[in-house]
Amino acid sequence: MALHETHDSNDNLSSRPVFAIDDKVQVPKYSLPDGEMSQDAAYQLVHDEVMLDGNARLNTATFVTTWMEQEARQLINETLDKNMIDKDEYPQTAELERRCVNIIGRLWHADEGSGNATGTSTIGSSEAAMLAGMALKWKWRERMKAAGKSTERPNLVMGTNVQVCWEKFCRYWDIEPRMVPVEEGRMHLTADKAVEQCDENTIGVVAILGSTFDGSYEPVDEISAALDELQAEQGLDIPIHVDAASGGFVAPFIQEDLVWDFRLPRVKSINSSGHKYGLVYPGVGWVVWRNKESLPEELIFKVNYLGGEMPTFAINFSRPGAQIIAQYYMFLRLGRDGYKRVQSACQGVAMHLADGFEKSGPYEALTRGDELPVIAVRLKPEVTDFTVFEVSHELRALGWLVPAYTMPPNLEELAVLRVVVRNGMTTDLADMLISDIKKVTDELSGQPASRTRHSSFHH
Ligand SMILES: Cc1ncc(COP(=O)(O)O)c(C=O)c1O
Repeated sequence: MALHETHDSNDNLSSRPVFAIDDKVQVPKYSLPDGEMSQDAAYQLVHDEVMLDGNARLNTATFVTTWMEQEARQLINETLDKNMIDKDEYPQTAELERRCVNIIGRLWHADEGSGNATGTSTIGSSEAAMLAGMALKWKWRERMKAAGKSTERPNLVMGTNVQVCWEKFCRYWDIEPRMVPVEEGRMHLTADKAVEQCDENTIGVVAILGSTFDGSYEPVDEISAALDELQAEQGLDIPIHVDAASGGFVAPFIQEDLVWDFRLPRVKSINSSGHKYGLVYPGVGWVVWRNKESLPEELIFKVNYLGGEMPTFAINFSRPGAQIIAQYYMFLRLGRDGYKRVQSACQGVAMHLADGFEKSGPYEALTRGDELPVIAVRLKPEVTDFTVFEVSHELRALGWLVPAYTMPPNLEELAVLRVVVRNGMTTDLADMLISDIKKVTDELSGQPASRTRHSSFHH
């Protein structure tokens, strides 16, 4: 959540003259109005405010779903009043959550393990990361206490390309983040670098299936094999958590042979965002543990449920149930074939865009959409007269939101444009973007760099 400062402004809202808001009634912007207004006037005022936001269809910056079909919207409207924590009042919503956890667990091959995988919905991958991270910390502490060792200095190993939720987790739960820097030609965590950072205080290694920076997959199987070797040599048994915020709903459909999930015994938990490639509006995420043993009992709270008790593990209490219902709808509606069709289409468009970028100017694609349907593109080193920040800025003037940003520490000199291809980005739309990129590139070429380098994009 953004932190907003309060201030003393006495500004009033201005409205269209045709509105029937009584001239004498002032509508303050930053304090509660004294009087009421009609619902149509209130609706129109708020509607007009949010109209100024960017156009979701031209937003290639976000991983999060911006379109669902009418029937899904209708279900969401019908179920907006359900609080998913009230399991007793809404047992059927709880049942749909249970079915989703089962479906997702099987998608990630939990059924090939010990058979008692456990999971929950969350508000998104960030909450899921907090829960999975806590489970790692608690399990590590149990191990250390049993060995009579200090539990003072836990650390978590990951690449500097992690999403900010992992930095938050470390800061909020007092854990040393052991960040492996990216470098030219290596944009994410690799097995050897991960193992170098591990010691007896390592609560786990986070491997990302779908780096936020460029959409590339970290080699979970290689990291796992290297940790197996470490265990054989030094006796350190270090678990892996896979942050599959985006890839968790992509790889099972279009990279079925990639082994990254519970097929690897060392993978103890996985998170994903239902609201990204799970194709549901924000906010729903998922986290699944391979078995009950990976989830410490101490972290589980029981809520009353139909005269009994239901175990819960969450940071929030009240939370909308509608997105969970919408996730179940999407599973029924698309099935395996439908998800495969959607994700393959996105991948095709991403690859088309990577080619389009390279053909329309001095660009080099660092990722081409063959892992996540995401491309990261840089300007060729010989281009010195403009920057990707200017390209992003000019595209914005044409309505496109294509973020430009620098890569994480150690590679800050490398600035890229990133396009996330989501359900609904058609080849036609991609061609329009390519044509605008060409136009903008032609305009910028040869002009002296005039704008300051800035980015409005944050991870
Ligand atoms: C790899 C990764 N992890 C975690 C997150 C956070 O996900 P959410 O927005 O669902 O909290 C993101 C968001 O982009 C991500 O890309």
